Amino acid sequence: IRVAVIGGGQNCEHEVSLASAASASAAFDRSRFQVVELTIGVDGSWSHGAELLTLGTAIDLLQTCDAVLPLVHGPRGEDGTLAALCELAGVPCVGSGLGAGALAMDKWVTKLIAQAHGIGVADGVLLTAATAPSYGWDGVVVVKPVAAGSSQGVSLVREERDLAAALDAALALDDRVLVEEVVVGREIDLAVLGRPDGSRVVAPALEIVVDGFFDFDSKYGGSADFRIPAAIDAAELKGLEDAAVTMYDALGCAGVARVDFFLTESGPVLNEVNTIPGFTEQSQAPKMFAAAGTPYPELLELLVRDALA
Ligand code: DAL
Ligand code: MG
Repeated sequence: IRVAVIGGGQNCEHEVSLASAASASAAFDRSRFQVVELTIGVDGSWSHGAELLTLGTAIDLLQTCDAVLPLVHGPRGEDGTLAALCELAGVPCVGSGLGAGALAMDKWVTKLIAQAHGIGVADGVLLTAATAPSYGWDGVVVVKPVAAGSSQGVSLVREERDLAAALDAALALDDRVLVEEVVVGREIDLAVLGRPDGSRVVAPALEIVVDGFFDFDSKYGGSADFRIPAAIDAAELKGLEDAAVTMYDALGCAGVARVDFFLTESGPVLNEVNTIPGFTEQSQAPKMFAAAGTPYPELLELLVRDALA
């Protein structure tokens, strides 16, 4: 099987996406897979090794492949754009399509969909550059871009005097920002895999144990500790798993999605849904499936075969 692995991308998660793509490319069993590595630059250019490609020749190359594994996190990748490109090019693509990618990338819409299903979310308001100046300070908040990832542009604002800078930082990455109450709870991730027969596999829950705020530095600096399976009682786990599958299906996800929650004293609060979650061998979702008995190379193979089914 000839599979194109796309990494990089035009957003602040570029380096994270390169790491996901490099790890996946290296893990495919070369007796069964031929891997074509494609990189999208931060400037939007496409390349294959040292060779720069026009978008046209990149699509030509994708069309020589049996399937595409898109590992571009964040906008212009995970938001459904790569899935849409593959769809127009007629090449099977691993994971979620345009609709699920776009819905999940929008943290505001995700929140509305969760609320419609009775799933807890943080109270929050949506602001734009025009409405942000009239936001009235009401205590500690989290400020985040509606569409970004890896905690980029996210600030925990403890003092009113820091609010304007936090709004600017978030508005630098997106036209819309969310100002949310701070949720106090354990950080629990669920990974859901949808199979072509309609079945859903939920991997053992993962708890992120971090000293303080799970920000970009603790995400990628190695200070966060992943516990799999998370120590959660059966009833709470069932609630989390049901909410994760409900969100997966409500958004219309395919392949692997990682659904992130805070487990609070009043139950699960949805944080976000990642349709292209971090995908190095050491990232949360691959580690969760490895704990469930599906090692990383097998997970990759299964995802590609499902995309072809
Ligand atoms: N957005 C990063 C890659 C993640 O959620 O894993
Ligand atoms: Mg994310």
